[in-house]
Amino acid sequence: MKDKLIIFDTTLRDGEQSPGASMTRDEKVRIAKALERLQVDVIEAGFPAASPGDFEAVQSVANAVSDSIVCGLARALDRDIDRAGEALANANQSRIHTFIATSPIHMKMKLQMTPDEVIDHAVKAVKRALKYTDNVEFSPEDAGRSDEDFLCRILEAVIDAGATTLNIPDTVGYSVPEQFGATIKSLMQRIPNSDKAIFSVHCHNDLGLAVANSLSAVMNGARQVECTINGLGERAGNAALEEVVMAVKTRKDYFPCQTGVNTQEIVSCSKLISTITGFPVQPNKAIVGANAFAHESGIHQDGVLKNRETYEIMRAEDVGWSANRMVLGKHSGRNAFKTHMAELGIEFKTEEELNDIFFRFKQLADKKHEIFDEDLQALVSDASIENEEHIKLVALKVCSETGETPMASVTIRINDQELTGSATGGGAVDASLRAIESLVKTGADLQLYSVNNITSGTDSQGEVTVRLEKAGRIVNGMGSDTDIVIASAKAYINAANKLLMPNAKQHPQATGDV
Ligand code: KIV
Ligand code: ZN
Repeated sequence: MKDKLIIFDTTLRDGEQSPGASMTRDEKVRIAKALERLQVDVIEAGFPAASPGDFEAVQSVANAVSDSIVCGLARALDRDIDRAGEALANANQSRIHTFIATSPIHMKMKLQMTPDEVIDHAVKAVKRALKYTDNVEFSPEDAGRSDEDFLCRILEAVIDAGATTLNIPDTVGYSVPEQFGATIKSLMQRIPNSDKAIFSVHCHNDLGLAVANSLSAVMNGARQVECTINGLGERAGNAALEEVVMAVKTRKDYFPCQTGVNTQEIVSCSKLISTITGFPVQPNKAIVGANAFAHESGIHQDGVLKNRETYEIMRAEDVGWSANRMVLGKHSGRNAFKTHMAELGIEFKTEEELNDIFFRFKQLADKKHEIFDEDLQALVSDASIENEEHIKLVALKVCSETGETPMASVTIRINDQELTGSATGGGAVDASLRAIESLVKTGADLQLYSVNNITSGTDSQGEVTVRLEKAGRIVNGMGSDTDIVIASAKAYINAANKLLMPNAKQHPQATGDV
């Protein structure tokens, strides 16, 4: 029997730290259910002390998930640990993940603490977390730039205090594979009680080395990898879950361990996260990019037709690419619809909610005859976005003709007041967004505008992401529709709604009063 490699997914926590990727409670629950279908071992659901909203999101994930361990992040502060413990109280299996920085620069400049004080805080934090759960993980933040002797001291102390997982983060993505792997091996050899804990790694992708560093650590004894779907995460992101899992599976001749992940769920999970966060997946992204299994060159196509293994090292269906099948159509009834949504992990809290989504589904089925799972996920995202917005799109009219300047007229409702405005622009989308901006007046910079088709075909829904930035605050807006001009308007309005809402959320790596 090979060792188990524990897959710790942090899409809902570190992934959410990507600029603009914040998720609502319901979105987190939908993603958590998808991660559970993927059979990840641990779901880090958030940072409960960040805000009341984050607390409730972790609590809701803890209530909704039964198979995976649900984890909450906490700085080495009493109140953070108590909040995490309370948020996880109803979890079937819970874990508290506490951390404190250990690199000289972080201890001196950020924490303004001596190394001994840092050890003291870490030990106290682990002991306090044990009041809530016997599953406690400790991370020395910025371990990639910490002194190895000091890491040995602090890690030995937290194992003695009761930590069962030691996570070694390369917080700033500074490590290189050989050296990072050697550090893991050396820590495991030098720490006298290291056999009492599982060693884990958490690598950031600033140098594009997150997956390579994680896999090198696995070859040197790490048995948990922290990762995110699509490699989402702070700055350049974290190690991509799909790449780590498929590397270990495809090269089982090389890796001394195996994961319990149901790889056929990878693609749908990736699409769901992209839809909810508004972070499109680049076409050439390994495993989940649209081109990952597409063979363009004639020589390759010929080879694959004769024997797929000539150019394919993995089967597209093993990661869920073939799952793109028609699931519902115009004639599907309410019961079939409800049952299928439940299979996707989408439960309706009230009859009204079911009726609303079913009505939207019928409208979509009239425009687009084949409805896929991705369409249904986008439909639910759109509905939940619209229901929470205080600025809503009422009507949009666009004139676009060769040789004429495109013009758009838009009506929106802000609370109970309807406003109409118009604008011209370089194209239909530009004119529409300008017309909306003339009414909502965000004054923000448009940092990104992107359109993706959710499924294939010209009748597919277009999924638009708009990223707005104002005074350092970044938000992503999403919208989908079979008409991409309408999808664009919805996305801009969604971003404006977010930007105009107060943001009281605390960043986990902020100092606090440690
Ligand atoms: O990158 C990091 O150091 C983290 C810790 C909180 C584990 O995300
Ligand atoms: Zn991180």
